[in-house]
Amino acid sequence: MDQDLPELPAILGGKPLCPNGPPGWPYPDPAIQEALAEAYRAGRWGRYHGEKIEELQARLGTLHGRGIVELCSSGTAAVELALRGLKAGAGDEVILAGYDFKGNFQNVLIVGAVPVLVDVHPGNWNLDAARMDAALGPKTRGILVSHLHGGVAPMPAITAFAEAHALWVLEDAAQMPGARVYGRRAGTWGHVGVLSFGGSKLLCAGRGGALLTDDEAVSARIRIHVRRGSHAYPLSELQAAVLLPQLGALDAANARRSERVAWLGRRLASQSGLRLFENPPSDSKPGYYKVGFQYDPACFEGLPREAFSEAMRVEGVALDPGLRGLHRVHAPSRYRKADELLNASEADRRVLTLHHPVLLGTEAEMESFPAALAKIRAHAGRIRERMKC
Ligand SMILES: Cc1ncc(COP(=O)(O)O)c(C=O)c1O
Repeated sequence: MDQDLPELPAILGGKPLCPNGPPGWPYPDPAIQEALAEAYRAGRWGRYHGEKIEELQARLGTLHGRGIVELCSSGTAAVELALRGLKAGAGDEVILAGYDFKGNFQNVLIVGAVPVLVDVHPGNWNLDAARMDAALGPKTRGILVSHLHGGVAPMPAITAFAEAHALWVLEDAAQMPGARVYGRRAGTWGHVGVLSFGGSKLLCAGRGGALLTDDEAVSARIRIHVRRGSHAYPLSELQAAVLLPQLGALDAANARRSERVAWLGRRLASQSGLRLFENPPSDSKPGYYKVGFQYDPACFEGLPREAFSEAMRVEGVALDPGLRGLHRVHAPSRYRKADELLNASEADRRVLTLHHPVLLGTEAEMESFPAALAKIRAHAGRIRERMKC
């Protein structure tokens, strides 16, 4: 009977599709090599601050149409500083999605405020604007919203709600630098937008982050933490030097990643069990730091998500379980919730994310995804038995 099935999956002893594993990141890039060499030649590489920092601030400002750009040490630090700049503090409540980056929840706590969790949209598992009303209370001061896994948050509805209730909006575009969200660059809808330049990110400096705003008073409160080289938060001149060439290539790289995700969508359309995060029709071009899928174990003979992702990884495909639902990993005393967070619980159990480097890889590397999926689907029952799950 086995002759009729696709080749044996690597997890059952077959040959892995990508024996060298998924592509690494960042890719070799002569422009970055030259930026590093130039920083060395010019004796600039050891500086706290210099012309590359200023150039990066100016270029990010132009790209986003924002007047003020502050650079800092990480996306996590950027969110914390943004909250401080917006004067979020003790006694305040901040609305965020029940499925989000854990550091965002923790940052709300760090500044002394209380996270109020709202559910996510069933189709794209990003914040559901229709749920915000139930979260509103006398202490609500703002909304912290991320764009996750290729799903865009509904920023027109979020900003309209914020305006109606005199709230600020902090837009976390760490996963989508340069993306277009309902016609605007990601990170430009909120009072403050943040980017991440972490080692695995689409714009990569090992670590780093940025805050985008037009609000001089907010910026003044952030600036005191990021402008002195000896402080904990600044970005260095060398980091700025390696980011500059990436900025020029960002739109083309984002377009290429989007084409690859569209291709993947077409390849998976006839299959069941793995659905891309959906975005409602809009003038959006999402970015893909991770490509998010909704996994349905029933389509894989009940193979649990963790076992499925393990089997994909053994084939050399970088597919991992997503984030945790914030209400699933924090004590109820740390937050308030607006509703039962049923979709966020689904997301906690069923998100899978494909790591982005393969989207700029070879066609053969891309083909490995549907090929691995076919192998695993055909042998899902045996994988379950082997993994005792
Ligand atoms: C949505 C989101 N926000 C913030 C961050 C934090 O960025 P960093 O890793 O630079 O601290 C991340 C990192 O993955 C993220 O995904």
